[in-house]
Amino acid sequence: MKLRQEVDLLRHITISLLLLLAFTGCGNRQDTTGQDSQSQTSQVDNTGHQDWETIVEVLLHPRCLNCHQLELPLINQGSPHVPRVERGPENMGMGTMRCSNCHSDQNNPVTGAPGAPGWAMAPITLNWSRMSSAQICALLTTPQDNGGRSPEQLMLFMSENPLALWGWNPGGKREPVNIPHGKLVEALKSWIAAGTPCPPQAPSS
Ligand code: HEC
Ligand code: HEC
Repeated sequence: MKLRQEVDLLRHITISLLLLLAFTGCGNRQDTTGQDSQSQTSQVDNTGHQDWETIVEVLLHPRCLNCHQLELPLINQGSPHVPRVERGPENMGMGTMRCSNCHSDQNNPVTGAPGAPGWAMAPITLNWSRMSSAQICALLTTPQDNGGRSPEQLMLFMSENPLALWGWNPGGKREPVNIPHGKLVEALKSWIAAGTPCPPQAPSS
């Protein structure tokens, strides 16, 4: 009987101690790292939804959107490309207006034409310029609709492909993508780890 009580008391003390430790541990973390609330949210939120918000903010940035159009590329914050150029059968322009006539594999400070290896309009299947966040997410997670691309391929492209990386070094007076590239890569990793969750689709009208 006495022993039983002692064990109970011991257990009680252990639990209180553990709670205290957990509590002060949290307090310390907050005090010493001084991280902003943004990164704390991303530590706590492992559902992937916050990560998708980061990803879609990049996808909708003018640096990316200007090539991910239906027919004509755009410039700056979305103005028409002057001179007018068209997609053409291979996404590389038509006739004398081939993209490669003016765009090389790097930014050209003399002509002002930006450049990166593979400069061309994005395939029509990847035109998300008029889509909502939920629709873009559905497109990217449905290989039958996006040209057979898996989330892992998308991640690789956005992490390493020079066309995507150009968005962080666009040359001239163009504004680079506002989300740091490292943050995008982290968001892609955790979004995929969370099973590529998408925002709910609005009911179609
Ligand atoms: C100069 C035009 C251009 C710009 C600017 C551009 N893209 Fe693309 N994008 C393309 C082309 C072309 C492809 C198709 C590449 C392929 O399939 O080989 C593509 C493909 C993609 C894909 C699919 C990758 C895959 O798996 O094939 C993603 C995702 C993507 N782009 C995201 C971005 C993001 C994010 C940005 C901005 C940071 C961006 N793009 C900027 C032209 C562009
Ligand atoms: C006759 C030359 C010429 C041709 C052909 C041409 N471009 Fe351009 N493009 C330019 C110049 C110059 C700029 C810079 C304009 C500026 O920033 O004011 C530019 C800018 C752009 C931009 C703007 C990037 C941004 O975010 O501001 C995109 C995207 C683009 N071109 C895509 C294409 C694509 C895709 C093709 C082929 C289908 C193409 N261009 C064909 C000369 C050309």
